[in-house]
Amino acid sequence: MGIFQALSYASLALFASSASALDWSADPVNPPSVPLAVRTPYLSAWLPQGAGASLAGTWPEFWAGATLGWGGYVRVDGTTYTFLGNPVVPNLSPALATQKSLTYTSTQSTFVLTAGPVDITVNFLSPVEPTDLVKQSTPFSYLAISAAANDGGSHSVTLYSDISAEWASGDNTLPVNWTSTTSGDVWFHQVQLQSPSVYAESNDQSQYGSAYYSTQSSTSATWQTGADVDVRAQFINNGNLANSGDTNFRAINDNWPVFAFAHDLGTVSSASDPVIYAIGHVRDPAIQYVTAGNNLQDRSSYFWTKYTSVTDAINDFVGSYSTALSDANTFDAKVKSDATAISNNYYAIVALSIRQAFGATELTVSRNSDGTWNTDDVLMFMKEISSDGNVNTVDVMMPAWPVLLYTNPTLGKYLLLGLFQYQQTGLYPNTWAVHDLGASYPKAIGHNDGNDEKMPLEECGNMLIMALSYTQKSNDQSLISTYTKLLEQWTGYLVDEALIPADQISTDDFAGSLANQTNLAIKGTVGIAAMAAIEGLLGNTDAQQNYSSIVSSYSPQIIQFASASNHLELNYGASDSWGLTYNMYADKLLGTNAFPQSLFDSQTAWYKGVINQYGAPLDTRHTYTKSDWQIWTAAFVTDNTVRDAMIDAVYAYIGDGQNNVPFSDWYDSVAGTTSGFRARPVVGGHLALLAL
Ligand SMILES: *[C@@H]1O[C@H](CO)[C@@H](O)[C@H](O)[C@H]1NC(C)=O
Ligand SMILES: *[C@@H]1O[C@H](CO)[C@@H](O)[C@H](O)[C@H]1NC(C)=O
Ligand SMILES: *[C@@H]1O[C@H](CO)[C@@H](O)[C@H](O)[C@H]1NC(C)=O
Repeated sequence: MGIFQALSYASLALFASSASALDWSADPVNPPSVPLAVRTPYLSAWLPQGAGASLAGTWPEFWAGATLGWGGYVRVDGTTYTFLGNPVVPNLSPALATQKSLTYTSTQSTFVLTAGPVDITVNFLSPVEPTDLVKQSTPFSYLAISAAANDGGSHSVTLYSDISAEWASGDNTLPVNWTSTTSGDVWFHQVQLQSPSVYAESNDQSQYGSAYYSTQSSTSATWQTGADVDVRAQFINNGNLANSGDTNFRAINDNWPVFAFAHDLGTVSSASDPVIYAIGHVRDPAIQYVTAGNNLQDRSSYFWTKYTSVTDAINDFVGSYSTALSDANTFDAKVKSDATAISNNYYAIVALSIRQAFGATELTVSRNSDGTWNTDDVLMFMKEISSDGNVNTVDVMMPAWPVLLYTNPTLGKYLLLGLFQYQQTGLYPNTWAVHDLGASYPKAIGHNDGNDEKMPLEECGNMLIMALSYTQKSNDQSLISTYTKLLEQWTGYLVDEALIPADQISTDDFAGSLANQTNLAIKGTVGIAAMAAIEGLLGNTDAQQNYSSIVSSYSPQIIQFASASNHLELNYGASDSWGLTYNMYADKLLGTNAFPQSLFDSQTAWYKGVINQYGAPLDTRHTYTKSDWQIWTAAFVTDNTVRDAMIDAVYAYIGDGQNNVPFSDWYDSVAGTTSGFRARPVVGGHLALLAL
């Protein structure tokens, strides 16, 4: 049995044992944390499953780990069961519904739970709408619940659900106020800090804006706000709510105010129509952005271009549920078909990654001087979630990039534009490309002092690679023609610095700094090759030939400097060292052919022998690895058994039950435990094979 067979048997065995330890079936796998409502950096609710925590009895969490009160009961023939969260009421605590299954797709997480003689299907839908800027930027997510008898009988069923004010701030000691709107087609509760602080965060949650919980109005619906134990006891005892609001505004953790709805489904036998809820978090303005002359602009979420009030947006969102569901099913089916063409395990990774990647982004628009929306000025922003909270970190956009190429390259342009425009103002003093647009999301205020995290080779290469990649996929030359001078400036830096990389960090800054990093030299050289192609597209054939000849000179020198007997070294001359040369993926993506096929073959052969249970290490300094770079590498190797071994190793990691945080891209390749990151958008890089 070769190592690859051994590996795939090992991962099969793992899957079987972790699945049998659970009481429910999982399709495609039981992930560390299940996305529930994941749309923006501030609407990001997850179920930390780990080795198998059920939806019933476990509180959802914000990506950073804080509890988000989101409770649900189902009352069947007078007996109440908990199906969502852990809403305990002294002396009245309901039994937990029994989870039977978990299924996730690219946009949906669906649980089936048994509550006595009734099964309920609980579907969390976080839309991904890459070609509809209004829908993609609407910061709401759906919860839909239907019930059906599981014994062939008929049963009376009532549903209850609430949220706490933990959705409105990262500091539970702060006072909030709230309102309930219970007229019209859609009812909603709204809660916010009494003293908001615009553009501020606390524990990564927003310190301004409002959380909303809404549902369809119905003659059989009731509502209530009040202390958690009071509102929940009202439902457990009576099966309905009091249609009354608590106006004693207070701190989030002071007798925990909750915001609840109940729906009487009447007598249920076959599957009922679903009850629809929407949960959201809305801020305005959304992003502060630096423009020419160091003016700071307030930018709004794009969805405001269609609506005059949040009420309009909520009504449209809740009212469009069936369209949203069919859009989501179409999107999910395409991803599944494309990803399973590689493998089922690859699909499991991709489907878990898409909401997480989009959930770090926001689409924004500015206003004209007369106050109207300037819809020609669309910018996308991405938070570097969990590693440092920067805005539009170039070396985080780069790994995430494949998800944008696959879903809609124009989003890539909206993401790049903010960086190009800022550097075009001349406010940034360095000759290399800036690391990010601002140290703390959502403040994209630039780095006019030039003291951003210094990754010069990394970011110059990334900007050139993304600029060409966008142009190739879109046939739109606006970026490369508008910003030619900047691109040439960064290419000049690469020409000076890429062959013999100075002692510096790469995107993998946690691994420390090192001189002569082979992978950085590769990135820089592919960046120069990208500029050659850009000059070619612009008709500048002299410049194209100049850059091409530099690539032809650097490429063999790098291979010579970095060659151990049968693999590239991590850094020139360190013969026992090696690392994932994931930047070779960019050469394949762009078709630049900066490096020869023989190098792709020899790196493939080398990796074949160094894959641990959960993947090949990032490099020889540590046993940890990165899932994004693992999959980038899998996308360029020239032997499908090596490709599949790398994919299967990442799959084994997400399904092994040891972790309980939103997909951590950084983890130990031997132990399978996360190394610290979570919920980062770089998982968009797991679509690397789909972007080719
Ligand atoms: C809640 O507090 C905000 C900010 O202090 C205030 O503008 C708003 O009117 C208050 N809402 C209610 C319902 O008291
Ligand atoms: C080729 O590019 C290098 C680096 O940007 C530049 O210094 C040189 O002047 C260019 N040569 C020609 C002929 O354009
Ligand atoms: C980097 O590599 C070059 C080429 O092998 C070598 O001349 C130089 O000494 C190396 N620099 C360091 C700091 O190791």
